[in-house]
Amino acid sequence: MRMMFFKKITVFATLFAISLLLRAAPDSVNKTGEITGYEVDGKQVTFSFSDSTAMRLELYSDGIVKVWIDPQGTFVRNNDSYAVLPKEESGQVNVAETPQGYEVYTGDLIIRINKSPFGIRFFDKYQKLLLEDYQNKGFEVNDEYMSVSKTLRVDENIYGLGEKAGPLNRRGRSYKMWNSDKPCYGVNEDPLYKSIPFFMSNYGYGLFFDNTYKTTFDFGESDENYFTFATPGGEMVYYFLFGPTFKEIIARYTELTGKPIMPPKWALGFSQSRGMLTNEKLTRDIASGFRERNIPCDIIYQDIGWTQHLQDFEWRDGNYGDPVQMLTDLEDQGFKVIVSQDPVISQANTSQWIEADSLGYFTTDIRTGESYDMPWPWGGNCGVVDFTNPEVADWWGAYQQKVIDDGVRGFWTDMGEPAWSNEESSDRLNMKHHDGMHDEIHNVYGLTWDKVVTEQFEKRNPNTRIFQMTRAAFAGMQRYTFGWSGDAGNGFHVTEGWKQLANQVPLGLSAGMGGIPFWSCDISGYCGDIEDYDALGELYARWMQFGVFNPLSRAHHEGNNAVEPWLFGSHVEAVTKAAIELKYSLFPYIYTYARAAHDLGLPLMRAMFLEYPGDPETANLGTQFMFGEELLVAPVMEEAAATKRVYLPEGTWFDYHSPRVSYDGGQWIDFPVTLETIPLFVKQGSVVPTMPVMQYIHEDPDYPLTYNIFPSRLNRSASFEVYEDDGETNDYKKDVFVKRSVQCKLLQNGYEILLNEKVSNGFEVTPRDLMIRIHTDEKPAKISTSDGDKLKKGERHFEKGRKSWFYDKENEVCVIQVPASSQVDKLMVEF
Ligand code: NOJ
Repeated sequence: MRMMFFKKITVFATLFAISLLLRAAPDSVNKTGEITGYEVDGKQVTFSFSDSTAMRLELYSDGIVKVWIDPQGTFVRNNDSYAVLPKEESGQVNVAETPQGYEVYTGDLIIRINKSPFGIRFFDKYQKLLLEDYQNKGFEVNDEYMSVSKTLRVDENIYGLGEKAGPLNRRGRSYKMWNSDKPCYGVNEDPLYKSIPFFMSNYGYGLFFDNTYKTTFDFGESDENYFTFATPGGEMVYYFLFGPTFKEIIARYTELTGKPIMPPKWALGFSQSRGMLTNEKLTRDIASGFRERNIPCDIIYQDIGWTQHLQDFEWRDGNYGDPVQMLTDLEDQGFKVIVSQDPVISQANTSQWIEADSLGYFTTDIRTGESYDMPWPWGGNCGVVDFTNPEVADWWGAYQQKVIDDGVRGFWTDMGEPAWSNEESSDRLNMKHHDGMHDEIHNVYGLTWDKVVTEQFEKRNPNTRIFQMTRAAFAGMQRYTFGWSGDAGNGFHVTEGWKQLANQVPLGLSAGMGGIPFWSCDISGYCGDIEDYDALGELYARWMQFGVFNPLSRAHHEGNNAVEPWLFGSHVEAVTKAAIELKYSLFPYIYTYARAAHDLGLPLMRAMFLEYPGDPETANLGTQFMFGEELLVAPVMEEAAATKRVYLPEGTWFDYHSPRVSYDGGQWIDFPVTLETIPLFVKQGSVVPTMPVMQYIHEDPDYPLTYNIFPSRLNRSASFEVYEDDGETNDYKKDVFVKRSVQCKLLQNGYEILLNEKVSNGFEVTPRDLMIRIHTDEKPAKISTSDGDKLKKGERHFEKGRKSWFYDKENEVCVIQVPASSQVDKLMVEF
């Protein structure tokens, strides 16, 4: 790799000399020469330049084009892409030569390449210009970097780069990719833990820069007329992703880098953690605390101190009397336990360190040839496990399996930057990995670890869904793991903590658009010793009210700072309990959108512009979001708030908690709030499926399914298709599931309701009673099935197996019960 770059430098030197001779602008940057010819080979076309440079275009699929510009023209990569899924080669690219250059056609795109000066432009098939090189900055190389610059239009917005802080619209700012451990990070801090070099534009395209080095992105900060992405090493390989909609761009990014894995169903419940939650007694006490108070909870985490030595996967002596019994008892109570793992072996753990060292499983120090001596925040200096070495996988897999065999349900992969390897830690650049030097591997170190953890888990626990939650990763992580945003927050200064909470909203939305739909942040913020629980109580409650809409919800705080919901006083306890219960009731809705995340890469928490791209108010709206397509969440993020300013896009919106109240869309409203309030709105013409609140997900597997219908306008339908699978196995990848659909059409004289159940690949369906709640101010006169069977108008309480209905005048809702056994497929509700 160094050699390659050296050659690039030589090319640069030659070009530089030529440019001086030609009296070109005396800048330190040289451009490539003109294109002299091309050669087609199946799906790829290679253009040669008058110097050694060559550019290769390759059709990944109709809407995805790989662009590789190589100053040496050899197209040799040090490592295959860590992020991009390999694709079978077949098909043919069509190239036509014109006097000025070349035209390449795909089903969706026309790509025009200018011969001199070199430049590339992407058009859709209707000739709309999507993206073009900026003037003659289409490719530049000097002794420090290679870069590509593209035109920014005045009204162009840029979104993406995954889990990064700052405003949703990245325009006018610069960012860096260098996975960094930044405890208590600031609201505009960059870089953070993950590197996702993928972004989207409202001009209908996305771009993935497939380079693992410390790449930079300048979205018009230096010059508002163009953006630049640059790398100090590796290859200039990027993918153009056609949309034109944001959702289509995300789907193409998913096609390119992989589908997000589905979490086990219990992972979508609530979870509790703490830095020092590392012993049996505390674990049991916290578990009981939840059950005694009837606060739903599914997962208890054990932070890194659970293990004897980094990282022998032994339970810490003295902290756990009988871990297997503990895990069994907790399972009986409906809890799953997740344990932390760090990617290092402490030197204090002599036998395992010697084992790994002698096997060559650590990264080495190029200065000494010995295992790299890594200072670690705990456990003394460590060896850094080299997950790029293929032999490491089985070794690590056998260690981690020990606790899975004990009854642990998954892993929290922490510190994979590897930690304390921030930009200033330049000593780490002396690390050599099996796959290359640290400057190349740093950003994918975490990803290679996540891959081992998942693949080994799947190998040793066939057809069981992995639970893994990760801090440091790279594009493609969604194939192996879920994400959380690390050490935010500030418990020392509660006021600062409010800003940190607000920061997590756009950060989480951006993560969701970058292949991290299953995302979480530390409810309470991670940092700071909590000295005043009363003072933190309000922030905790508000963070919880946001956190329950994180697909993975976890309360966590540093050290021994307890953040269980009952520690902040009875008022906060009641408020947080209600928020967690809301999450549990929404499980059928959430799980359906989890499947959409798997299929299409679409996040559950959606930036407003994903759903309302044509509405300029949504362009940089980071204070609220859509939760799926039907619900709008506007978390309160200000201290002592009396109102929350909410933007409602076109349509009519109901207050989810008081559906008698509705608002016209297309306006900002000041929504009154108390500490109890989570501003949550549902769009007219929606169905939101819910289940009864349980203490853990599917505590009662035979629960009835409720369809909360917010009818559409006359002759229009509200509909939903509820997804369900076994929740535990990987059969979902073979499409083993059931989809239950409901459609409610408003007619002149009532509602027509259609019910359907579609079983795929023999899924063993749990029969479900249906509860249909139509929010309507018209009291029906009669309700009957398609075969004319009139439903009994019943009492307000329901008996299992009874087909009946009643009208709740006070809440303006018509409630119909249809037992699973009745096989009703159509209901007529007549006014
Ligand atoms: C760093 C993580 O970000 C934090 O959540 C965890 O508590 C500590 N490591 C200790 O394992």
